[in-house]
Amino acid sequence: QKKRPIILGNWKMNKSLKEGVQYARSLKAAIAGKTWIMCGICPPYVFLKDICAILEGSTICVSAQNMHSEASGAFTGEIAAPMLKEVGCSHVLVGHSERRHIFGEDDFFINDKIKKAISFELVPILCIGETLEEREAGNTKDIVLRQLKNGLRGVGIELIKCIIIAYEPVWAIGTGRTASPEQANEVHSFIRTILSEDYGKDIAKKLSIIYGGSVKADNTEALIHQPEIDGLLVGGASLELESFLTIIEVVQ
Ligand code: G3H
Repeated sequence: QKKRPIILGNWKMNKSLKEGVQYARSLKAAIAGKTWIMCGICPPYVFLKDICAILEGSTICVSAQNMHSEASGAFTGEIAAPMLKEVGCSHVLVGHSERRHIFGEDDFFINDKIKKAISFELVPILCIGETLEEREAGNTKDIVLRQLKNGLRGVGIELIKCIIIAYEPVWAIGTGRTASPEQANEVHSFIRTILSEDYGKDIAKKLSIIYGGSVKADNTEALIHQPEIDGLLVGGASLELESFLTIIEVVQ
């Protein structure tokens, strides 16, 4: 039996506050009563407080796009987990490929963030995935295994239940080149096998593993019907509310 699918829209560094607020209001109205999905958005930091206030009392969750691994301190320009919690976020993306590849975040920093997010009762969405070069060299599984093991180091059986895994092949992000549903499913299945070995079959079965990378309305159905794909992390196609809502309708 399939879990309640998770559909997250990551706005990245896009939109004005005015546009974001309008989007959140319309999304709230459009999603009301749609209980078959868990829908969420990841707005830029400075919109979070306003958007959390708008979505309060709805089933839509608000996720930050990143956070620092320390709870406070001299880290100019950074945002900490308790700050996200205070403004009303429930989730946070950790280790998005843009953080890894553009900003040089490594597995160890990401692991510290995961543990800190959980300690402040934020659900971390651990993003992992290989580059094109790594896939072409036949190293997809090695990379995913490394990122998963290092990202979850020290996360025990009790805490793993609080985590969502997002598989996002870097070569499919923002490129229009989606992993085929079968390619994505194969990696999701591999991830679940690793989680099974480390946490047991029952727990691994319950964990949500979502896919991201050029998800659009026209490839949603094929992706979401794969047995190991529990949801979607949508970038570009979540920016226009209409296209995000079409994806949500397809998932129904
Ligand atoms: O967080 C979202 C992913 O990076 C996917 O982005 O749908 O624009 O390829 P995309």
